[in-house]
Amino acid sequence: MTRVRKCVFPVAGMGSRFLPATKASPKEMMPIVDKPLIQYAVEEAVAAGITDMIFITGRNKRAIEDHFDMAYEVEAELAARGKKELLGLVRGIIPKHINCIYIRQPEPLGLGHAVLCAEPVVKDEPFAVILADDLIDGEPAVLKQMADVYEQHHCSVLGVEEVPREHTRQYGIVKTDGREPGVVSAIVEKPRPEDAPSTLAVVGRYILKPRIFHHLAKVQAGAGGEIQLTDGIAALLKEEKVLAYRFKGKRYDCGSKLGYLQAMVEYGKKHPETGVAFAAYLKSL
Ligand code: UTP
Repeated sequence: MTRVRKCVFPVAGMGSRFLPATKASPKEMMPIVDKPLIQYAVEEAVAAGITDMIFITGRNKRAIEDHFDMAYEVEAELAARGKKELLGLVRGIIPKHINCIYIRQPEPLGLGHAVLCAEPVVKDEPFAVILADDLIDGEPAVLKQMADVYEQHHCSVLGVEEVPREHTRQYGIVKTDGREPGVVSAIVEKPRPEDAPSTLAVVGRYILKPRIFHHLAKVQAGAGGEIQLTDGIAALLKEEKVLAYRFKGKRYDCGSKLGYLQAMVEYGKKHPETGVAFAAYLKSL
């Protein structure tokens, strides 16, 4: 059986909810305290044993490539000033054994289309997908929890969590057989609360079997003129078992302003450098 070795990071979206911040720089480079969202996502993938990081990029996303490359000028400057700790920090962003691969999505035609762009590199292997703007604080790392489920069941695994019924319109919602993990019998993109088959929402973590590419290639543009990953999964689960796994961890929707601010506060309180002083400040408010 093939282990999950590859992870796709779709980062070609417009990030319109964060304009003007995302006009010229990627949403995924926005920091939580001192680390960009995309770095948290890559660290989660490394913790799950992933070795090949595949970024689906688009316009204005060069900063992501630069972030994971060597930065000669910065390193030389830090070395010359004897700033060893910072130098270690900059050099250690990504472990040496990791491969970074960049694919351009020529047009933002939707998340499903972004995932399909990874096919030439993923080929015939199971693979993970992480949406970096869903930051999840979990121990063990949530993708590691899901890789363990995959190793047991050898089928696609969707990371899910309960959401308030009035929020179903923001997610893909699954219907399962109620077991843990549950076998998915239906998935609906952004249903109205009264139509939602449950309140179990798919959030930004997936392990998918390569058969998904076959279905994504056939999907027609759906809600909002985009090729939806949900539609590909809906076709996949008619053919193969797909599991919904309720991960252990706290998720912050950093694609929304409120979620981003919440993550900043929680990670700020835990940060080794700022934690104590920041918590004291919050208390004083
Ligand atoms: P979102 O729905 O969050 O869209 O995409 P967005 O463009 O990033 O942000 P808003 O809604 O305009 O504020 C979910 C994920 O899919 C990626 C995004 O980068 C994000 O990680 N995506 C979306 C692509 O890579 N390509 C697309 O065509 C669409």
